[in-house]
Amino acid sequence: MFSSSFYRCRALPIVAALTLSGSLYQSAVAQARREYLLTTNWKFTKGDVPNAAQPTYKDASWQTVQVPHDWAIYGPFDGNNDLQTVKIEQNQEQKATPKSGRTGGLPFIGTGWYRRQLDVPDFGPGKRAVLLFDGAMSDAHVFVNGKEVGAWAYGYNSFSCDITDALQAGGNNVLAVRLRNQAEASRWYPGAGLYRNVHLLVTDDVHIPVWGTYLTTPEINANFAKVKLRTQVATPGNTFQPLRLETEIRDAAGQVVATTSTTLTATDGQEFEQNLVVKTPQLWSPETPVLYSATSKLYAGNELKDEYRTPFGIRSFKFEAGKGFSLNGQVRKFKGVCNHHDLGPLGAAVNTAALRRQLVLLKDMGCDAIRTTHNMPAPELVTLCDEMGFMLMVESFDEWKTPKVKNGYSQYFDQWSEKDLVNMVHRDRNHPSVIMWSIGNEVPDQGAPGGGKIAKRLQDIVHREDPSRPVTAGMDQIDAAIKNNFASVLDIAGFNYKPHRYEEANDKLPQGFLLGSETASTVSSRGVYKFPVELAKQKKYPDNQSSSYDLEACVWSQTPDEEFVKQDALPYVLGEFVWTGFDYLGEPTPYDEVWPSHSSYFGIMDLAGLPKDRYYLYRARWNTAAPTLHLLPHWTWPGREGQTTPVFCYTNYPSAELFVNGVSQGRKTKGPSDKPQTQYRLMWNEVKYQPGSIKVVAYDAQGKAVAEEEVRTAGKPHHIKLVADQTHLAADGQDLAYVTARVEDAQGNLCPDATNELAFKVTGAGRFRAVANGDATSLELFHQPRMHAFHGQLVATVQASDKAGPLELKVTGKGVKPATLRLITEKNAAK
Ligand code: GAL
Repeated sequence: MFSSSFYRCRALPIVAALTLSGSLYQSAVAQARREYLLTTNWKFTKGDVPNAAQPTYKDASWQTVQVPHDWAIYGPFDGNNDLQTVKIEQNQEQKATPKSGRTGGLPFIGTGWYRRQLDVPDFGPGKRAVLLFDGAMSDAHVFVNGKEVGAWAYGYNSFSCDITDALQAGGNNVLAVRLRNQAEASRWYPGAGLYRNVHLLVTDDVHIPVWGTYLTTPEINANFAKVKLRTQVATPGNTFQPLRLETEIRDAAGQVVATTSTTLTATDGQEFEQNLVVKTPQLWSPETPVLYSATSKLYAGNELKDEYRTPFGIRSFKFEAGKGFSLNGQVRKFKGVCNHHDLGPLGAAVNTAALRRQLVLLKDMGCDAIRTTHNMPAPELVTLCDEMGFMLMVESFDEWKTPKVKNGYSQYFDQWSEKDLVNMVHRDRNHPSVIMWSIGNEVPDQGAPGGGKIAKRLQDIVHREDPSRPVTAGMDQIDAAIKNNFASVLDIAGFNYKPHRYEEANDKLPQGFLLGSETASTVSSRGVYKFPVELAKQKKYPDNQSSSYDLEACVWSQTPDEEFVKQDALPYVLGEFVWTGFDYLGEPTPYDEVWPSHSSYFGIMDLAGLPKDRYYLYRARWNTAAPTLHLLPHWTWPGREGQTTPVFCYTNYPSAELFVNGVSQGRKTKGPSDKPQTQYRLMWNEVKYQPGSIKVVAYDAQGKAVAEEEVRTAGKPHHIKLVADQTHLAADGQDLAYVTARVEDAQGNLCPDATNELAFKVTGAGRFRAVANGDATSLELFHQPRMHAFHGQLVATVQASDKAGPLELKVTGKGVKPATLRLITEKNAAK
């Protein structure tokens, strides 16, 4: 099954793209199509407003905002925001209790309105105009000049509205969007507002519609790849016209490698089919993310009517019984993470630089796959995954007919599920990064009567729109899902937190392979270590933190090592998607009931994007190209002198020797054991704390000492050190630098318990955007230019202006020497 070759392309129409403030962001090649990003000059107000859709409505007193915009991320936090008194059945709870931080404690509930002037410079007779929303949270109603032109219920999906008939040519047009978020509609922070981009597309009335191409690569070998391109056309009244489509394929260097020209005949309907051949194709993979693009020009006689670009990649994959997954003929397992859509301190407001930074960190960890839990991703993420090399499981829903939360998607399911799946697939089916579609996560219908039938119906819809990729779903109720014929219907059975039952499930199911669709859910707080060190479930401490020894999980979940054992032993297990790559707003398990916890503890990285210790455990396993040698805990424990303070080492070297103040604590080797942890970590459990230093010397397989790592006891906070993820920013008004501020002692050691309040000032070609410290209990606001360090660190985000030039970040704090960092914004910065 699914053994043919697929390539995907994204159907983003790119001929000319401008912001409506007038700046051209892509060069105009032809006048046939123009795309504008509607980012500026929006007015916003919270609350419902009668007549706000009317063009004459006076919105001068509303706030001026930029889109993407998340109206709730500015806070304040409050445990009464969306306080849900619920029994979480997935978590095996027996009675309903108040869950204060479940959706982040931020004010996203209620109605909000956005308005802006809508200039459509190229509009006139014979033209069409379309608005494309990448996502609007939620229950969007779109009005142009007071007329409703479209609506979409699900806040995560992309949708378009044809606004041609509502526009006045050359006139004063007004766009208004009404959004509404209900209480008890989500299990995590959804964000609020126009949190993704809004595009205006202006075309001829003979044109290629939104997501109008479908490109596959039905055959791939070393000599050639066949490329099949289906292109829809729209004409006035959808009547046949003898149009011509000229397509050329370019390789990554921009060289034309294939061309064809096709004339539409009356029997073709409104769709071209073109078949091209790319010789000696360069294959797409996470390690070699090579992209091609097909540019199609649509002509009526000699007149250019439209131009449309479809980026794609050439790659093949298979899912085979007993063998598992292979990409381009090579067997591999998904080294994946699940991620929610929020970007920590930016909230849900999408930003390409923020996404890119996440992917850079994941890449360094050796991660090669992402599951977009539990909803459709931002298109920018999918494009970055094409370019940077990540395989995607694009997911649609967290519930179907049977609710998990009172006002969740179940209220829309009957009316909207097919439309939502169709848009999901049409938008993303040309992307090489997308490897599979997920129709749901732990939907309660997996065990309800008829659940298997719903799964089949949804899977059939996805197959109809894209026969080239398999469909999966994440299941938690393994017995019910097998009994209900739910698990056997799916192309790929995905199980959440069931490593101990993989063998049994595989025996009972027909596919011959299965996926760890959601794994681990280990909890920890960066920089926090609890004693005694022991395996624990649902462990709670008075400070609302979890231990970074990576031994604490939930009743339904495991430590990473327990999953590793099964992944390594069972070839038919396709890999894993760890819950989660990054901490996210909401779901503060195990402190769901204990305010002020309001963000997760599950992340391999914290809410600020700083790696927790666990990052190195995964890196040691997944990043086989680079050495990993990481020691924990920190070694500054005044008052613990003489007490047992275990030391762990996460490394891809097979063995190492630990020294405390130069005294050997013995050499440990990873190896077979009935304890999963001793197979994947080196652990010295009996070390007694003495100030000074801990040092490991790592040995390779031949027993040669090859690397060392040392952690020293820190003295008093002395100065601030700043480290930026990038120093040259694009002067595009959007690019971000993430600057880690560390409180260090005079010798440059991190002060691991420092809580100094730091203040930020940006001057020059940029502005302070946000700050986060990764503390799930912190009620300090992300957009205020000050915050306390959490375990000695925090991360400030600086946003470039659209002017090129130097920019300076100054960070000050009581009792520590300040620091200044200089960055540059420049036009045409390479990204
Ligand atoms: C799973 C669920 C996720 C998240 C996770 C926490 O059951 O699919 O959305 O809630 O548990 O462990």
